[in-house]
Amino acid sequence: MKFAIVPDLHLLAPPERLWGLDPYARLDACLSDIAEWHGDAEFCVIMGDLADRGELDAYRALKRRLENFPLKTHLMIGNHDDRATFQRAFPDMPRDAEGFVQIEQENDAGVFLYLDTVEAGTAAGVYCDSRRAWLRDRLAAAGDRPVYLFMHHPPFDIAVPYLDRIKLEEADAFEEIVRGAGNVRHLFFAHVHRPVQVVWKGLPACALPALNHQVPLRREAVSSRYSDEPPMYSVVDITSDSVIVNSDCFLNRKACVMPPNKS
Ligand SMILES: [Fe+2]
Repeated sequence: MKFAIVPDLHLLAPPERLWGLDPYARLDACLSDIAEWHGDAEFCVIMGDLADRGELDAYRALKRRLENFPLKTHLMIGNHDDRATFQRAFPDMPRDAEGFVQIEQENDAGVFLYLDTVEAGTAAGVYCDSRRAWLRDRLAAAGDRPVYLFMHHPPFDIAVPYLDRIKLEEADAFEEIVRGAGNVRHLFFAHVHRPVQVVWKGLPACALPALNHQVPLRREAVSSRYSDEPPMYSVVDITSDSVIVNSDCFLNRKACVMPPNKS
């Protein structure tokens, strides 16, 4: 089973640019590259921070683009999003009984859970009692089937101090739920604007660079807080014995100086 992951978008009301970069040009290039080369994927997930300032016009612009995108797409929210405005733009997007953007999807690979870790007023992640109860129930209902978690905020440090200050708060309570269930196979996260792989208490996890701007690994390495490094999307192939995550620097892909590929 194959699916695609698109990282943080940070769209503004079009055609506004962000930090000197054009998030719409990058989104268009990303979606078109996925459609061209990975049209066999079953679906796509966009991992939150859809809109940099939670603007309605940004969500509407995203919605227009997705209408022409051939893959069914699950949308998550991040700390830059405004949940109510997002739900106004996407009224059909599923939500849990408390109104959080939490979605369960079953497919041939197992149970996919898309979590809502957003709390207004903080860049850090919050997973409250109500959301924990939803997760506990969903993990219990999954039983022996493998579960794949998708969450904007990581529940662990990634050894980048600026980001470790705004990870998921009260991560111990979250870990207890995941560990107790024992059926989570992989964790996909966003928020960090960096390509990073982590094994957290035995659970493999990974993230991608964002689509617009990145967080430099060493803050002193560039003169601005954010950096312009190649964006990527991922395609994930899940088999009975592997979770294979391939990431593609679609904007920076060029032929080498060598004879053309005839095969
Ligand atoms: Fe972000």
